[in-house]
This record gives sequence, structure tokens and C-alpha cells, in this order.
Amino acid sequence: MSERVFLAKCDDCDEGCAIEVTANNRVIAIFNVEGQFYALDGVCPHQGGPLGNGQICDGVVTCPWHQWQFVVESGESLFSPAVRQPTIELEIEDGQIYARFEQTS
Ligand code: FES
Repeated sequence: MSERVFLAKCDDCDEGCAIEVTANNRVIAIFNVEGQFYALDGVCPHQGGPLGNGQICDGVVTCPWHQWQFVVESGESLFSPAVRQPTIELEIEDGQIYARFEQTS
């Protein structure tokens, strides 16, 4: 079973930009790559930097703290193939961005 949670309006995240939101007790980084939205767990696995404050280039976000890089679509790390940042499934409806979270209980 999964739960749909509102994250942000599409207008909150301009093309080529990232934003950081909190939902379901998680920090989530949302990215707009050429009008397509993606989301990753927003806490960098290196030392907890804010991926939602990172710079995006060619679909890759660079952590602002020590420049680890992640493919926003897959979470793949360009620094190490052993590292993959969790992706968040998004749904876009009526100009709003929602996440789909699995419910635990
Ligand atoms: S905290 Fe992200 S690269 Fe170090």
C-alpha cells in the first residue's frame, strides 16, 4: 500500500533548478530537468549535505558541500558505483508535485 503526499507546486522549481522540501519526515530534493521533474533523498550520503541546494548540469546534481555528483533520474553516483542515492517516485497533477511513499505498519 502506498500514500500520495503533496511536495510542491511545479512553479516552485524552475527549469534547471533544484529545491528542498520535507515530507513524511524525510528531506527530499526535487529537480527540474528540461521540464521533467525528478526527486532524490535530499540528504547527501557523504556527510549529509543538501542535494536540494545543489547545481544541476546535464541531469546531474552536484552536492554543494564536497561536490559528489548524482544522476537525478537514477540516483547513481558518479563518484562511486557502490553509492546510489534513493529515488522518490513522483506524480504530477494539475501543476502540483506529489510523492508516492510506501506505507509501513
Ligand atoms: S556532503 Fe555531499 S559531497 Fe560531502
